[in-house]
Amino acid sequence: MADRRTFLKDSILASSLLLATPARATAAVKRASARVVSTWDFGVAANAAAWEILSKGGRALDAVEAGARVPEQDLRNHSVGRAGYPDRDGRVTLDASIMDEHGNCGAVAAIEHIAHPISVARRVMEKTPHVLLVGDGALQFAIEQGFAKEDLLTPESETAWRAWLKTAHYDPVANSEVKSDQATPAGGVRGDARNHDTIGMLALDAHGNLSGACTTSGMAWKLHGRVGDSPIIGAGLYVDNDVGAATSTGVGEEVIRNVGSFLVVELMRQGRSPEDACREAVARIIKRKPHGVKDLQVGFLALNRHGDAGAWAIQKGFSYAVCDASKQDALIPAKSTF
Ligand code: GLY
Repeated sequence: MADRRTFLKDSILASSLLLATPARATAAVKRASARVVSTWDFGVAANAAAWEILSKGGRALDAVEAGARVPEQDLRNHSVGRAGYPDRDGRVTLDASIMDEHGNCGAVAAIEHIAHPISVARRVMEKTPHVLLVGDGALQFAIEQGFAKEDLLTPESETAWRAWLKTAHYDPVANSEVKSDQATPAGGVRGDARNHDTIGMLALDAHGNLSGACTTSGMAWKLHGRVGDSPIIGAGLYVDNDVGAATSTGVGEEVIRNVGSFLVVELMRQGRSPEDACREAVARIIKRKPHGVKDLQVGFLALNRHGDAGAWAIQKGFSYAVCDASKQDALIPAKSTF
């Protein structure tokens, strides 16, 4: 009798395993479709660099680092990396974070003189027991790691900063340095298509693993020492390999207040689609500032573990780039609340 019971138990176990196998196989196949998404139109070129790695079966972490380095070294890009606009004192200070499929993360904030903060963030993650290094300490660590110390203030950025100095009245609230009725040196309004910031990049690799990267020079003409959402894990970037990943762009103070990217991932965990999770995270920001969002732009971008992507912004004008085996350079306008 005991043998029969054991036999029955083993048979039930075996058949349930057999039944479970196709479902797991389907999930594995679905997860194996590599994809990378990035904020804004400069995400197209960044995605191409990431896709070089993903399309060969490479790791999502390597892909997002390689992708983020593209706008960091683009001299036409005044909101990320080397040619980023300086702070109020004329100093270029950069923020970046990176996170992998195991929940490892690293970040640098207000780092000066280093053209690729995303790579320093990765070294923080891989070579130290810490998550975030700031200012002089981040620079010292970068130099110890072999990064070149450079002057990042380009002649064009300096000219724009000096022009701002002539007219500037600093009012230290979020988004104050470039009001929506005020032309920016970039020729647009903060948060619109001509004056966007921050590359946030999320990738799913052929092994079904997610990683993310986020890098920016932050708000132009900010107070020296101001740090936005981009290097704050959970605000500008969050990755949970069991659920999905999210990143943000726009006025970092509002994203930090709402722990935006963590919120998006948690909403996806509760079953929301990437787009719906981003929409809800935007709604939380608006709820806290019902009368103050007219001039405010924040956009979220999310990628779930199946490779579904979605985004949402407060204002029109936010777009995100998608690259996978079927489309190499798609640029998608995000939906917005206003
Ligand atoms: N989202 C970039 C910043 O606020 O610094």
